[in-house]
Amino acid sequence: MNDLFEIMRTTRSMRRLKPDPVPTELIGKVLEAGTMAANGGNMQNWRFLVIRDPAIKAAAGAYYRRAWHEVVGPRYRSGGPAPGTTPERFARMLDAAEYLADHFHEAPVWIVPCAAGATPTRTTGSSIYPAVQNMLLAARALGLGATLTTLYLNFEKEAEAAMGLPEGVHSYAILPIGYPMGKFGPVRRTALADVIYDDRWGECWKG
Ligand SMILES: Cc1cc2nc3c(=O)[nH]c(=O)nc-3n(C[C@H](O)[C@H](O)[C@H](O)COP(=O)(O)O)c2cc1C
Repeated sequence: MNDLFEIMRTTRSMRRLKPDPVPTELIGKVLEAGTMAANGGNMQNWRFLVIRDPAIKAAAGAYYRRAWHEVVGPRYRSGGPAPGTTPERFARMLDAAEYLADHFHEAPVWIVPCAAGATPTRTTGSSIYPAVQNMLLAARALGLGATLTTLYLNFEKEAEAAMGLPEGVHSYAILPIGYPMGKFGPVRRTALADVIYDDRWGECWKG
């Protein structure tokens, strides 16, 4: 797929992944797309850890699963649905999120974007997440499914130790990547008018 707007329109979180291996060449393309992203001063202080080792994925994935079942899942399930979503659709999303939690380690490839330095802030994150989005879009363009995940950060220290990150290096996400079981479909968002203001805060943008 080549049309950028169509790629953006259909880059959904793909949480059900086949365990089939992903060709190294495709992983390389995704990583290259990541490193094309904007970053502060072009210092490229990012590092991308590619994890395919089943033992490392099992060890770190256990913290993801725990975070879902003990913290994040119960919180989402006891709250209301996301804006513009029906309770049924939201419940299906949570089921997919739970599936991912239980099968996180089975995704054939993880990409873990990292940066060295002090406590992560908006500033450091700003130099990493453009790369993350580029990688999600590149994966979609190549027919690979992926999800931006951060809920393992509920067990940040333990998960980062399991991934072998050295002292002083922080991860900003884990992207589990693989061939999707289901089909890509359109993302669902609220209307532009609900989230865009025109000159003055609260005044609807009319285009
Ligand atoms: C900062 C951030 C963290 C996220 N963390 C997780 C996560 O840990 N697990 C997960 O299943 N999805 C995670 N997501 C994916 C969102 O739930 C998803 O983007 C949102 O529900 C919209 O769905 P869509 O991506 O399919 O359009 C995260 C997204 C963002 C932007």
